[in-house]
Amino acid sequence: MTRPQQPPGLRHSRILGVGAYRPRRLVPNSEIVAAIDSTDEWIQTRSGIKTRRIASDDETVTSMSVAACRTALERAGVSPYDIDCVIVATVSHLLQTPAVATLIAEELGATPAAAFDLSAACAGFCYGMALASDMVRCGTAHNVLVIGVEKLSDITDPTDRGTAFIFADGAGAVVVGPSDTMGISPVVWGSDGSKYDFIRQEVAWDDAFQRDEATWPTLRMEGNPVFRWASFEMAKVAKQALDLAGVGVDELDAFIPHQANMRITDAMARSLKLPPSVVIARDVADQGNTSAASVPLALDRLIEDGQVSSGDRALLIAFGAGLAYASQVVTIP
Ligand code: UT7
Repeated sequence: MTRPQQPPGLRHSRILGVGAYRPRRLVPNSEIVAAIDSTDEWIQTRSGIKTRRIASDDETVTSMSVAACRTALERAGVSPYDIDCVIVATVSHLLQTPAVATLIAEELGATPAAAFDLSAACAGFCYGMALASDMVRCGTAHNVLVIGVEKLSDITDPTDRGTAFIFADGAGAVVVGPSDTMGISPVVWGSDGSKYDFIRQEVAWDDAFQRDEATWPTLRMEGNPVFRWASFEMAKVAKQALDLAGVGVDELDAFIPHQANMRITDAMARSLKLPPSVVIARDVADQGNTSAASVPLALDRLIEDGQVSSGDRALLIAFGAGLAYASQVVTIP
């Protein structure tokens, strides 16, 4: 494989540390099936989900992010004072403004770091990684915190058959900093707005509150078309990311796709012809689909379980509402 050349004047970037926060409460399928006329067997067969983590009132988007960041910073050996930018990928911070990233930076003691939220749904963490990597490479920032966090239980209708068994809560974070070698490959990313409606907030805030009876907006998903799109199109994107990184499947140690559905993960692994030596993240089984948080949570799980080691190469891919997607190859810190 030919390795991509670094343009003159640019340095490299890498992940320096990873952290996660998983809500305390585990909610098994048996607790949610009655409200959606479903069964544990149907949910496990169709999605691979056995149980999910649901946040309690005291586990907020901010508190979960701060906890994940503290671990990531400690593992990276980076002080909050040395963070130049905080990027928060989320769709479940319920204030339109200000960005929750500013509050997280404040609580971490990372001020006056630049801080902003990023809305790319399930692709958000990999979008954030791409921005952080380019900031570090260009010298715009030395160290960047990238957070994927969701409290989807706040915007999920427990009686909606199409989403109630999938979505869950949690936070994952990484510190991205400079490197002598390429630790984060160039991103392959994009969107397909012709499928804008496939995963969406059911009604806009103004419509929701102008109705006779105020409605709390929740998520809706055309599950099967998204499933088919992800299963067929996303492996091609992942392959492009491998090619751009100059990494063959035989040089890969781990595959960490967005934890949407175990069947999508399996379909992508088959299309990519991953050898048995490649570890595949299967965090969805007991964490559920946590949108922007799913990739960093799955990454953290593989590190914690000792399934990957420092220096290993992992292929990330994330996809979801928009429909937006992003993929890159990273080196495990
Ligand atoms: O994270 C962002 C990206 N999201 C994704 O990637 C999710 C993609 N989609 C999926 O994961 C899958 O589409 C689901 C897990 C949501 C659904 O699985 P599916 O294999 O696509 O099922 P389906 O929607 O085609 O429904 C199959 C059958 C239908 O019944 P009939 O028409 O075959 O009689 C549904 O009415 O299952 C029925 N069904 C259910 N049955 C029990 C639909 N929802 C449920 C349910 N429990 N919750």
